[in-house]
Amino acid sequence: MRILSGLQPSGRLHIGNYFGMMQSAIHLQEEGDAYYFIADYHSLTSIHDGKLLRDHVRNLAIDFLACGLDPAKCVFFRQSDVPEHTELAWILSTVTPMGLLERCHSYKDKVAHGITPSHGLFAYPVLMAADILIYDSDVVPVGKDQKQHVEVTRDIAIKMNETFGAGLLKLPVPRIREDTAVVPGLDGQKMSKSYDNTIQLFEEPGALKKKIMGIKTDSTAVEAPKPTEGSSILALYKLVASPADHQAMIDDHLKGGIGYGEFKKRLLQAVTDYFAPFREKRAAIVSDPKYVDTVLAEGAEKARAVARKTLARVRDAVGLG
Ligand code: ADP
Ligand code: TRP
Repeated sequence: MRILSGLQPSGRLHIGNYFGMMQSAIHLQEEGDAYYFIADYHSLTSIHDGKLLRDHVRNLAIDFLACGLDPAKCVFFRQSDVPEHTELAWILSTVTPMGLLERCHSYKDKVAHGITPSHGLFAYPVLMAADILIYDSDVVPVGKDQKQHVEVTRDIAIKMNETFGAGLLKLPVPRIREDTAVVPGLDGQKMSKSYDNTIQLFEEPGALKKKIMGIKTDSTAVEAPKPTEGSSILALYKLVASPADHQAMIDDHLKGGIGYGEFKKRLLQAVTDYFAPFREKRAAIVSDPKYVDTVLAEGAEKARAVARKTLARVRDAVGLG
């Protein structure tokens, strides 16, 4: 089974990225032939600052490795080290109906949030399709918001196969963890960098405390029972606490007599404990600056060997070269 996923280096990782996508990607490296990459071509649709993009790529690589991505068990690389992705994207774009891209929620959402609607942003799903199809991927672990992009990828692969020959490209399936499909942010909306409501994975302790103590809550009095539905505190606590502690917090909400400040303190402690081993690992990786470069260079070489083969097959089928 070939597993593939990518993450954009467009800011520091947050808890939503971790539980929505990275954790299952890390588990899946035990189950198949996993390819994970840093989608820097994609980030060019929102970042036009060379130094910033390079910093984000480096930090994302370090963060992903600190969370348990193991380069001995998967191929970990930077998208732009495998330029074959962009050539395949061009070929795919010639069979991609405009209407398919016009229906993409992510494009519409990004434009609604003020990102300039460039051609690259509009064509983003085609590049993503190339990322997936070039490795003959079977399974794509992503958060719920990326599901439509994997469906678009399937539609494009079907179109390619109809046009140039059955079996040319393999149809992938998305893998979405329903239990953590949408991790809420500090304000109760979906946690996202674009909404400025995130808890970063490697937040400084002071900043972490400030953010968690600032989570929006309702004005229920301390003595009164508190609603459990739609509570960001409970939803986040469920991700990082034991099932027994999570249940105890639900019971304490229902009983009343405990204020939101106390629940936030429990959440703060649980988040700190949960990510402590990752923090240690991160410090070790940072102390050896060459390590990340070596991992990415080796990953690129392995990825490129596979990508070249698929591209040669496609070029042959469409009549290039
Ligand atoms: P952001 O919304 O912060 O810009 P990205 O779009 O870069 O995050 O998402 C990277 C990955 O993390 C995707 O697979 C996405 O589905 C997942 N993800 C992001 N935010 C969340 C969230 N709040 N809950 C679950 N998964 C998420
Ligand atoms: N679009 C994805 C995101 O924003 C990142 C990505 C790019 C990706 N190419 C991919 C994810 C291929 C899975 C497979 O999160």
